[in-house]
Amino acid sequence: MKPIRRIAVNTGGGDAPGLNAVIRAVVLTSLRLGWDVVGIRDGYNGLFEDDGVVPLDAERVRGITHLGGTILGTTNRGNPLKWPVKSDDGSIRFEDRSQGVIDALQALDVDALIAIGGDGSLEIAHHLSGQGLDVVGVPKTIDNDLAATNLTFGFMTAVETATEAIGKLHSTAEAHERVMVVELMGRHAGWIALYAGVAGTADIILIPEIPYSIDSVCEKIEQRWADGSEFAIVVVAEGAYPRGGQPLFKHTEGANKRLGGISKILADDIYERTGRETRELVLGHLQRGGGPNAYDRLLALRFGTAAVLLANEGRFGTMVALDPPHVHAVPLAQAVAHRKLVPLDSEVVRTARALGTSLGD
Ligand code: F6P
Repeated sequence: MKPIRRIAVNTGGGDAPGLNAVIRAVVLTSLRLGWDVVGIRDGYNGLFEDDGVVPLDAERVRGITHLGGTILGTTNRGNPLKWPVKSDDGSIRFEDRSQGVIDALQALDVDALIAIGGDGSLEIAHHLSGQGLDVVGVPKTIDNDLAATNLTFGFMTAVETATEAIGKLHSTAEAHERVMVVELMGRHAGWIALYAGVAGTADIILIPEIPYSIDSVCEKIEQRWADGSEFAIVVVAEGAYPRGGQPLFKHTEGANKRLGGISKILADDIYERTGRETRELVLGHLQRGGGPNAYDRLLALRFGTAAVLLANEGRFGTMVALDPPHVHAVPLAQAVAHRKLVPLDSEVVRTARALGTSLGD
């Protein structure tokens, strides 16, 4: 195994609270091993830009553990495996620039890469590893839908933000005797909606794993009024959809498909069927914003240090993962093999049902 002298770190995909904490742990742990660290700006884009690669020392990562966002910047448009190139006729074609990434890192004397990202970024890391790059992945997404890790950092902070919002909606819903529908993030999996919905005591929680029946949703709302609780809180994951329907996209162009809008459809349906005054709210990127909570800070710091220690042991092509109470290594191939959906027989689903919460089925 050739000795490591310099490593690179990057952050890709949508941001999540805790990215800066990972970067700090990567830098400080590496410095203790006598390595240099450079940061690539905006995923892999920095490798192809002037000033896109920056030295990271102890001074640069001081005081960033609690900060949201990422000091390196990030993008969900920087896939080196599908790099957009304008043809002479103006049309866009996609090129595989993975060898360009490897060459650029070699030219920088980088011996290994710590790639922090979600499913897309880890797919890229897996591909680059197959081409011979020494890479260790760190799983990130507020959606918590990455396989092979019990939790991703950023998720618990997003749940906290969403729970606080649901809590605040209770008083206004009750004051006006309204139905409030709040749309939370979660493209394929309803982790945020389920956890925040249960913690925030929502009456109805709709997740992509359980296509909902609008009749069942309205029945629960009427039951609330019949029981003398004349308001209702509905939490819906952005990827949830009615039985026999499809997830709702607000943008579908190219690779940049964006979900959104199910809360409006649902609120209109509820009003039409029950006549109850209904309002909807999309919490959106607030869930990704702000600094990480204590749980995510700690998890992110643990992940960053563990990733560097794996690199030091030469265990490349792996990703750090939480298997409580341990952080261990899993093959990148396993991490990107499938999505982690909410199991329908999970204890939190059971708890929601036992509390009388409707899951729309
Ligand atoms: O993957 C996290 C996530 O927050 C999804 O839940 C959401 O659909 C998506 O990112 C939105 O990302 P952006 O607006 O950055 O494209």
